[in-house]
Amino acid sequence: MNEIILKVNNLTICYKNALVPVVKNLSFELKRGEILSISGRSGIGKSTIVWALMEMLSEYNAAATGSISFKGKVLHYHGSDLKEKTWDWREISLVPQASMSGFNPLFTIGETLMEMLNVYEGPGQKERKKERIYELLSMVYLEKNIYNCYPHELSGGMKQRAAIAMAIMFHPEVLILDEATTGLDLLIQAEVLGMILELKKRENTSILFISHDKQISSSFCDRQIVL
Ligand SMILES: Nc1ncnc2c1ncn2[C@@H]1O[C@H](COP(=O)(O)OP(=O)(O)OP(=O)(O)O)[C@@H](O)[C@H]1O
Ligand SMILES: [Mg+2]
Repeated sequence: MNEIILKVNNLTICYKNALVPVVKNLSFELKRGEILSISGRSGIGKSTIVWALMEMLSEYNAAATGSISFKGKVLHYHGSDLKEKTWDWREISLVPQASMSGFNPLFTIGETLMEMLNVYEGPGQKERKKERIYELLSMVYLEKNIYNCYPHELSGGMKQRAAIAMAIMFHPEVLILDEATTGLDLLIQAEVLGMILELKKRENTSILFISHDKQISSSFCDRQIVL
């Protein structure tokens, strides 16, 4: 459990319309199979760090300096926009904050997941893909019939689990969960956390658990960074 899979070095991030950086000289390491939390009050810059890791800063009108390395590939930020992605989001996958409300209301959960498989694996082989989707749903403790449900037919906890199913579709080595349990009641929170633990055990996934809740972070994670 000592292999470092992700290393953030001296990361400073500034929104282009702001005078001072939101994240200053941040360095940390994530090991393989580890659950590391980043916690801190609302507005401190947690999601901003996520966008830097996902190479999405320019979409949010932000720029950074510093570097991030992932499995030997190094992403150097120089303040300007990146032209090309350094890694594939399938390797470092994100369950975004408020992902529960991110599902397209016009499609069933199954259609949304199928569309994603089609985009990345090409069309065809519908039956095999359907089986894969059932497998993913069962990994997050959702019944098969969820395939045919529209987002509004699911509870918040079920939607959160469906969002996690989507994020783990391509066996990411690093899974980033941004406020994955926020807004869920305590029992459902515990269920989602248990599920994340099982996933980590099964696939040895490294998990970055972002939360404003220091208590959950300290009880659930192997290591904690408090901003
Ligand atoms: N697109 C943007 N342009 C300018 N400032 C922004 C932008 N997005 C976020 N900010 C500011 O950057 C700071 C950090 O925001 P961020 O969303 O990263 O915080 P957070 O720690 O994730 O908060 P929360 O716990 O509420 O999710 C906040 O002060 C926010 O107002
Ligand atoms: Mg946030």
